[in-house]
Amino acid sequence: MKVLVTGGAGFIGSHVVDALVADGHEVVVADSLLPKAHARRPTYLNRAATFVRVDVRDSTALMRLVDGCDAVSHQAAMVGLGRVFADVTDYVSHNDLGTAELLKVLYATGFTGRLVIASSMAVYGEGSYVCDEHGEQRPGPRSRGDLEAGRWDPLCSGCGRALTATPTTEEQTVDPRNVYAATKLHQEHLALLFGRETDVSVAALRYHNVYGSRMPRDTPYAGVASIFRSSLEHGRAPKVFEDGRQLRDFVHVEDVARANLVALSNPDARGYFNIASGEPHTIGDMADVLTGAFDTALVPEITGDYRLGDVRHVTGSPDKARRELGWTPTIAFEEGVVRTFARQSLRVGST
Ligand code: UD1
Repeated sequence: MKVLVTGGAGFIGSHVVDALVADGHEVVVADSLLPKAHARRPTYLNRAATFVRVDVRDSTALMRLVDGCDAVSHQAAMVGLGRVFADVTDYVSHNDLGTAELLKVLYATGFTGRLVIASSMAVYGEGSYVCDEHGEQRPGPRSRGDLEAGRWDPLCSGCGRALTATPTTEEQTVDPRNVYAATKLHQEHLALLFGRETDVSVAALRYHNVYGSRMPRDTPYAGVASIFRSSLEHGRAPKVFEDGRQLRDFVHVEDVARANLVALSNPDARGYFNIASGEPHTIGDMADVLTGAFDTALVPEITGDYRLGDVRHVTGSPDKARRELGWTPTIAFEEGVVRTFARQSLRVGST
């Protein structure tokens, strides 16, 4: 098939391009090479794909690229959490308006293929919890007072006792807690509405904490693994916030790329899907395994610092993606972290 990948020069998009090319598809990449994400043109762009520097908000240019495509993978977005609230207009412009322009073009050209959009576990806000006595809970934001006092874990709203974190499923209510999350949710809604109106199959992939080669580094978009790597490269111990026991689901970017490939190839791929490994790990685990991959005497430091906007635990169940897309994550945590961050692989320049 012929596939348009928006944001195909980015961390995840470029792996989607590689997976499609490896599977024998014709790929057109549309990417604006946002200076905030790309200091220069990346060297890893797949030569077998056609690269066009274009902003998805430019519907005239997009119109030409969509022509003849069987599927569209929409990865272009501003990611991470903005530095200040004033970034709101940039996020809305790139993410909401960018998606709206793409959908308008697909509608205008009578597109009948498949659409896959990149969403995020950020739409859930805090993860899911259960109280032995009061059942399922979705705690609200943690207060500054609790965080200052090191009370990291949300408690049961009924009895104030400790809760057990459980993997979020796609049925959970959404609770976006930052501008990025709000734009991702809006993007999902717009795309799914478009799917209903046109009968195009639309799948929104809710990525959990994606890591792997080409991760953004030293930018506001860098995830914790990338931050830890930078520290180690500069001879500093990774700084682990809170008590290090907060849970995330780290999913390898090559598994994420394969999830895109199967969703793009499957006409029944409709709705929301968690793209998660199903293997929750603490941030402390990530710091330990990553530090181990560096073969250094440094040890991660548990700082007790916090970021007010952070959720405590959020992990995802990949069961729906397994069942309905036939996608199974294959790269185990330790293997993926070592493969991505081992000092040896840094030397040969595979990042
Ligand atoms: C994502 C956002 C984050 C936002 C949060 C809201 C990105 C890269 N991060 O965080 O800005 O507040 O959603 O839900 O988009 N950590 C450390 N040490 C560090 C950096 C982070 O211990 O130097 C911890 C954080 O406190 C957090 C965990 O690592 O508990 C994961 O952080 P991150 O990689 O930013 O991912 P999210 O929590 O998903």
